[in-house]
Amino acid sequence: MSAPALDNEFAQDVRAGLTRRGQKTLPCSYLYDDVGSALFEAITYLPEYGLTRADARVIQMHAGDLIESLPPNLITAELGSGSGSKTRAILETLRDREPAVYYPIDLSVTALEKCAQDLGSLAAVFPMRAAYLEGLREVAERRAPGQTLLVLFLGSTIGNFEADRAVDFLYAIRQCLQAGDALLLGTDLVKPVEQLLAAYDDPTGVTAAFNLNLLARINRELDGDFDLRQFEHVVVYSQEAQRIEMHLRSRIRQTVRIRKAGLVVEFEPHETIWTEACHKFRPEQVCVMARAAGFRLSAQWVDEEWPFAESLLVAG
Ligand code: AVJ
Repeated sequence: MSAPALDNEFAQDVRAGLTRRGQKTLPCSYLYDDVGSALFEAITYLPEYGLTRADARVIQMHAGDLIESLPPNLITAELGSGSGSKTRAILETLRDREPAVYYPIDLSVTALEKCAQDLGSLAAVFPMRAAYLEGLREVAERRAPGQTLLVLFLGSTIGNFEADRAVDFLYAIRQCLQAGDALLLGTDLVKPVEQLLAAYDDPTGVTAAFNLNLLARINRELDGDFDLRQFEHVVVYSQEAQRIEMHLRSRIRQTVRIRKAGLVVEFEPHETIWTEACHKFRPEQVCVMARAAGFRLSAQWVDEEWPFAESLLVAG
């Protein structure tokens, strides 16, 4: 029995994740199509989800300290820029010192266009439509002698990686850099479980919609027939792994067809698809990860209201 050749990477990943033995999975990067990105944006306004506001607040408060601690002649690159709204404070501060140069790196053309629109009057913006590391390699190749590279990786996206993979990823960033270059890393911190559960399972159901949209996306793009009403958004916190785990749970026994992935999938009642992991950190753990990846922690700023850390790592 041979499966049809799948030219499409999304189809391949869906197939791999839903045919595994044991826990079914889907990669969280596929949550962010245009609908998913709009729903995530709505999440950032929820009173229960303080993460994005904390990230923006710490940057706003400490942009001066950040820029002051870095040498002149900076070029700024951002991994997963989204609309780049948090970056505004950094570019505004930088612009008071020198002409600002900004490379947003993102796969979403919509996000890059918004970035260029919103920040174009503050900085020379060079949008890069690429995966994080490919984009960063390209920026590193284009740099002129004497420039220092500041990489931004905000929003606790690092928390989506498995613990070992997070260090691997930081190390891969380090490989693109020269000694003295810097990485500003945003990480959500450990906090009371009830607060975390409310943040990822809000009472208005926006996060549930964000999660369920992944099945809707499969229906739209891969000709699937998921009945979204037969799946339920479920969130658990693992103390041991220090992470939120987001799932979609089948309410019943059911069979789903996904034609463009050449797939027929059976679900047991209560069986789940694991769609995202969001690791939470202790401030010292960021330091340990940084060291393991060839950086030293040069400064760390924490939000008072919603425990969230911005860490400035310098390439050693
Ligand atoms: C964008 C990855 C930081 O982990 O909190 C929000 C994604 N998922 N609610 C996070 C998310 C559910 C978010 N990140």
